[in-house]
Amino acid sequence: MAGLGWPPRREERAADSAAAADAADAVTEQEPAAELPAVLPPELRTGDAAPVAPVVVPAAVDRVDIADPVPVMTQPDPEPEPDPDPPHAAPADRLRAALREEEDDGAEDLPISVQAQAAVRALNPSGRHDFPRPTTRRVITVANQKGGVGKTTTTVNLAAALALHGAKVLVIDLDPQGNCSTGLGVEHRSGTPNVYDVLIDEAPIAEVVQPADGVPNLWCVPATIDLAGAEIELVSVVARESRLKNAIEAHCEGPGADLDYVLVDCPPSLGLLTVNAMVATSEVLIPIQCEYYALEGLGQLLKNVELVRQHLNRGLHVSTILLTMYDARTRLADQVAQEVRNHFGETVLSGTIPRSVRVSEAPGYGQSVVTYDPGSRGSLAYIEAAREIAVRGSDSEVRSS
Ligand SMILES: Nc1ncnc2c1ncn2[C@@H]1O[C@H](COP(=O)(O)OP(=O)(O)OP(=O)(O)O)[C@@H](O)[C@H]1O
Ligand SMILES: [Mg+2]
Repeated sequence: MAGLGWPPRREERAADSAAAADAADAVTEQEPAAELPAVLPPELRTGDAAPVAPVVVPAAVDRVDIADPVPVMTQPDPEPEPDPDPPHAAPADRLRAALREEEDDGAEDLPISVQAQAAVRALNPSGRHDFPRPTTRRVITVANQKGGVGKTTTTVNLAAALALHGAKVLVIDLDPQGNCSTGLGVEHRSGTPNVYDVLIDEAPIAEVVQPADGVPNLWCVPATIDLAGAEIELVSVVARESRLKNAIEAHCEGPGADLDYVLVDCPPSLGLLTVNAMVATSEVLIPIQCEYYALEGLGQLLKNVELVRQHLNRGLHVSTILLTMYDARTRLADQVAQEVRNHFGETVLSGTIPRSVRVSEAPGYGQSVVTYDPGSRGSLAYIEAAREIAVRGSDSEVRSS
């Protein structure tokens, strides 16, 4: 049935549960050979692809082989891929799946001695591997209204990587979920002085900022659940879009005068909190997850950046796009990465962040992956991304004061 564009059917099913578990790895190799639909949403497509909705039409059939045991009209859907860890799996199966995931994650890890050397470079205790520092402070918003694409993980790990390589970095957690504060190991229980006080009560940043746990030269303005109401409360305050900008500027004229970077982690929305971040910064960094849905809504985000640029902050632009949660075993990740690179060109960092268990474990210990497992693939990828950002910033005019 290959002529119909159906994926090849698996010839044999695994005979026992152990074989079924191993099949999960093979699934990615058996992906259909047919072209996947275009992944960029229609509003971002240009050229030939522009007006065409991403619909796959099976190729026309000239002839149906009557010896085929399955009539064309009743051709079943492609066989579902086995869930590597179904919720109803027996404990032994779950354990096996968990171990397999660990193995997968380490499969591309470097030999121990190389990892140890990489870890020393990552932590950079001697300062020999410092990145170039920007001549003027860079203030960067990490934004994407799509949830769970890696905004917080990117903010935390880039900030840690930059701070470990010679920069002074302030992170502002602008998300009521407070994930960034968790990832940097700073206190953010309800009632802790936090970014809400800065935005609503005009408290100076110096009164709420905390040093990040275990990384020198890195500070965090935490967010607590109190921030959840700020979006509504901001509506009626004076200069509601510029509150954060004023606070950062005041801080940088005083105690934060020697900061090299200010990174702002946004919530998954395009409300007043995100607008405050965009008004306060000149660069927008957009993390894009290597999945179909992660590209949806990107047009709206770009439109908002343009609106803020036109009406509130002439210096704003998208300076950086980072591909996150890249899974090298899937063709989809490759296709998404390629389409994003074709569309956004040089704005996309050349390195990608791999999907890695270590990256997702680190916040549970109140750490970045760079300090939690410095020699791991995720850590090295974030350090490389930070290096690229630092090098780009050092030779270009993408700066803010
Ligand atoms: N490279 C990665 N490998 C594995 N897991 C990752 C990776 N990056 C992020 N994650 C996990 O994906 C989830 C979402 O990441 P994160 O919280 O950074 O996204 P977000 O865009 O900030 O989400 P939100 O929109 O809710 O603020 C988290 O559980 C995180 O640990
Ligand atoms: Mg987040």
